[in-house]
Amino acid sequence: MQLPEKGLSREEIRKKLDEVASKDYDWSSGKIFGYVFDPGKEILEVGEEALLKFYHKNALDFTVYPSILQMENYIISFAAQHLGGDENVSGNFTSGGTESIILAVKTARNYMREKRPEITEPEIIIPITAHAAFHKAGHYLGVKVKTIGVDENLRADIKQLKEAITDNTILIAGSAPSYAYGVIDPIEEMAAIAKERGILFHTDACMGGFLLPFIRKLGKNVPPFDFSVDGVTSISMDLHKYAYTPKGASVILYRNKELRKHQIFACASWTGYTMINSTIQSTKSTGPLAAAWATLQYVGEERYLEFARKKLEATEKVVKFVKEHPDLRLIAEPDMTLVAFTSDTVNIFHIIDEMNLKGWYIQPVLSYAGIKESIHLSINYSNVFHIDEFIEDMNTAIEEAKKLPSGTLLQKASEIFSSQEGFQLTPEVIRNLMELAGVKDGKIPERFAPINEVLNILPAELRETLLVEFANYMFR
Ligand SMILES: Cc1ncc(COP(=O)(O)O)c(C=O)c1O
Repeated sequence: MQLPEKGLSREEIRKKLDEVASKDYDWSSGKIFGYVFDPGKEILEVGEEALLKFYHKNALDFTVYPSILQMENYIISFAAQHLGGDENVSGNFTSGGTESIILAVKTARNYMREKRPEITEPEIIIPITAHAAFHKAGHYLGVKVKTIGVDENLRADIKQLKEAITDNTILIAGSAPSYAYGVIDPIEEMAAIAKERGILFHTDACMGGFLLPFIRKLGKNVPPFDFSVDGVTSISMDLHKYAYTPKGASVILYRNKELRKHQIFACASWTGYTMINSTIQSTKSTGPLAAAWATLQYVGEERYLEFARKKLEATEKVVKFVKEHPDLRLIAEPDMTLVAFTSDTVNIFHIIDEMNLKGWYIQPVLSYAGIKESIHLSINYSNVFHIDEFIEDMNTAIEEAKKLPSGTLLQKASEIFSSQEGFQLTPEVIRNLMELAGVKDGKIPERFAPINEVLNILPAELRETLLVEFANYMFR
């Protein structure tokens, strides 16, 4: 590919942008139950205006743009009080939940290096339901990640937690709530155990941190998960989820500055500018920070509370539908607005494809550690107006799914696997599989059910191998 000899016109660029976007989901349709958090045009515009106004300011250096300090300190002090913190709670604005979590693990690692230098092979303990970002943190930072199981309500198992702790444990984490099943771990018990053993404790409230306090104000019982809990030393809370700020917005909070200090990186051992980074990126746009600052203040307490009420009502409606449907089964009673359900009679991967072909986006969660595969919905404000239509289409999709054959690719894949000695996923086998699944010439297949059926029976390590090869194959 070469650049055009002469640059294209703005009109041509607009046309091309429309063309490349032609197969994308319509994120503003209200039919997307994940990835998108859409509060409606009016609020989006406030964030977009601030985003563009500050887009070109480089948040690499807060001494050049004092606005960065002012806006970030406002957001952190709001977040601290929102999450039961006192004036000692400190933190930073980050690009997302994953960055907040990587920083929490990095901070724990560096803090413990100073306090407990005898630990040379640090470990963190998380439930199997904790977000993949903790595994990514372990992968990037050289910290071992140990997982523990969950109880019948899919909350972290306390007995297993106690057994998993070793002299190398530096951090324990729990979710409020977990992404896949939407339930809150027993944070009070977990944090108490951590404190007693001199271990740091992180609450991953990326999903729930912003919303749960509003849900509590509406009278629903929300178990303690924030800085009001003794032993909680850090919390991640995303703003680009239920606070509806434009993407690239999360916060990482620590109980005090003594801890947060270990997050900051400074470098004077080179010939360039003096480098102080509180977060992972260096050069980055100030746009998302300004957009979050503007959106939070524009929407305000009352409207966020109203949004929370509407989302809870929508969630209750979906839960009622699932409970009453003869082919569906709720995986866990949701603590918030994330719903997971499965079917014992219909192939859910077909239900998902059928729904997605109708313009909805609903997400598969593969089976793991004995928990059956399920459908995940993150219910956001834009979905609230489409629940009846969703239920109607689900009823049709379930009936359509019943008529579809299952195991077509699985059968072929099993033949390939069994013709292999010692069952190895060589690049050739993987290419073969992908072509059979319709992943060819950079095209994404319309139906994912056959692929999900194969992934669903594989152990996690093989799934990971396949996924890495898939991404490596798709991107030039
Ligand atoms: C509980 C939880 N933690 C962390 C993350 C990671 O957030 P992000 O995608 O913003 O990196 C998510 C994302 O859905 C989440 O649900």
